[in-house]
Amino acid sequence: MSDKQWQPEDLSRLAHGYWSACALHAAVQTGIAGALAAGPASAAQLAAKLNLNERAVGMLLTALHATKFLEADGEVYALAPGLAPLLDPDSPHSQSNMILHMADMVADWSKLAGCIESGQPVEEEERGAQEGTPGPGRSHFYRAMRDISRGQAPGLAARLGLAGGQHLLDLGGGPGVYALTFADEVVGLKATVFDLPGSEPFFREEATKHASAGRVDFLQGNYKKHDLGGPYDVVWISQVLHGEGPEECQLMVDKAAAALGPGGTLWVQEFVLDPVNSTHPWPALFALNMLINTEAGQSYTEKEICEFLQNAGLEQCEFVGSTKEGSPARLIKAVKP
Ligand SMILES: C[S@@+](CC[C@H](N)C(=O)[O-])C[C@H]1O[C@@H](n2cnc3c(N)ncnc32)[C@H](O)[C@@H]1O
Repeated sequence: MSDKQWQPEDLSRLAHGYWSACALHAAVQTGIAGALAAGPASAAQLAAKLNLNERAVGMLLTALHATKFLEADGEVYALAPGLAPLLDPDSPHSQSNMILHMADMVADWSKLAGCIESGQPVEEEERGAQEGTPGPGRSHFYRAMRDISRGQAPGLAARLGLAGGQHLLDLGGGPGVYALTFADEVVGLKATVFDLPGSEPFFREEATKHASAGRVDFLQGNYKKHDLGGPYDVVWISQVLHGEGPEECQLMVDKAAAALGPGGTLWVQEFVLDPVNSTHPWPALFALNMLINTEAGQSYTEKEICEFLQNAGLEQCEFVGSTKEGSPARLIKAVKP
């Protein structure tokens, strides 16, 4: 039980929280955030440079200053400390596409009550940012996965115990940041990224930035229909299960287990749900994101994920903990006998 006594202003802050989020989205969508990452500027300078309305730019800058996102020196605004590398679209630490992807989803999230009523996702033609959708939604989605995984992947190979001479399958690997980073960090590791054809251009784009690209290939396919290749020593399934219902997850894990050689390891990275003692709100909120955006996706508990692994004949299912301190992403592993 929480000791917190809710006040009207607490509720108000929660209810209008999307105003601050939309102000941030607009700063990135208009190019203002990227321009400020290059250096301080006034509303007049930004409006002229980006062909925007000066009065409206001034209002946005004032709001971003009020929310501590910007610092001001007279009429000149600068990003608050730490933000420039995160908002420079060309920085390796950029989060711009993650923000654009979140902005793409606002319209669908505004229809959540209808999804709760019907139990169905928002109509597919209304959804803007799914992987099957051509146009900016798709590039924001895949580059958002890239932005997020660039922060998570470094240093992980040692934790997974990857070794030279092994062949790893990155199932649903998208832009391939995990496979490429693992191969950068482990000399002699070979990796295959398996994903839908639409993600290959984003893998190719990312591969140009990795010294190990020659040891990482891309296998186009649909895990519901196609063979995964193999045998592999390690299969890495990162943030893919939540997009599917339990039956499709079991099918995917069965295929992954079959593609492992004896003694091989299957790793799952997921937003693991704990409906009773949740330590982070993200997995539960992410489940709603899947309700809105997928036919049957959801966040799974540790027990449910271990059941997928054990039903596929894997043993020693182990909950290894958070990918990084404070991250809602968790690691689970199991071994093929
Ligand atoms: C949320 S993204 C995760 C990407 C990456 N593994 C990561 O952790 O950053 C889910 C990935 O699954 C892929 N995917 C979805 N359905 C698929 C299918 N039927 N066959 C193969 N890949 C699929 C998507 O294209 C996308 O790259």
